[in-house]
Amino acid sequence: KKIAVLVSGRGSNLQTIIDNIEKGNINGKIEIVISSKKNSYALERAANHNIEGMYIGKKNYPDIDKRNNKIIEILQERKIDLIILAGYMSILSEKLVKLYRNRIINIHPSLIPSFCGKGFYGFKVHEAVLEYGVKLTGATVHFVDEGTDTGPVILQKAVNVDSDDTVDTLSKKVLKIEHELLPLGVKMFCEDKLQVKGRKVRISID
Ligand code: GRF
Repeated sequence: KKIAVLVSGRGSNLQTIIDNIEKGNINGKIEIVISSKKNSYALERAANHNIEGMYIGKKNYPDIDKRNNKIIEILQERKIDLIILAGYMSILSEKLVKLYRNRIINIHPSLIPSFCGKGFYGFKVHEAVLEYGVKLTGATVHFVDEGTDTGPVILQKAVNVDSDDTVDTLSKKVLKIEHELLPLGVKMFCEDKLQVKGRKVRISID
């Protein structure tokens, strides 16, 4: 499968996909990494592995619609099969989501539908988890639909919230799970093992 990864920041989730592809665990190839931030470390990671990287953001495409149309143009000319959002902090257009229905995978650092949606991104998620006092949190891999963090759930894994946890220790525990779940979800997609019926994702084991 031809893969595009959309990033904004440090790119640790991108790195785990690159590593799993290079180890032969994922039957796919990253054709392009698109960053919404000009000099994100994620773009450096791509360059270190000879993967084409591109900045498409407010500075060179200030108009969000033109920005999304440019992204669509790039995805189509490269015949992309799967889009991975790995810490991507920009909004995708409905047009893009419809064109790539159930072919856009996102990783979110909580057990959706808890602590997700607008405003719940990055460390804010873990702050809210600690504030609420829940005993479990985790990560979710899901398909992207028109909403924010609302698409069909593919994989989830929980982790304990300990009384001495801080945003820093909790984000590290959850990131570790993200780095397990995202490659697994991508692997299953590339092996055509994910069947979506409405909101439900069935994983075929054949
Ligand atoms: C991760 O915590 C991810 O769940 C969230 O943003 C962060 C991205 O981290 N969407 P990285 O850029 O992949 O290191």
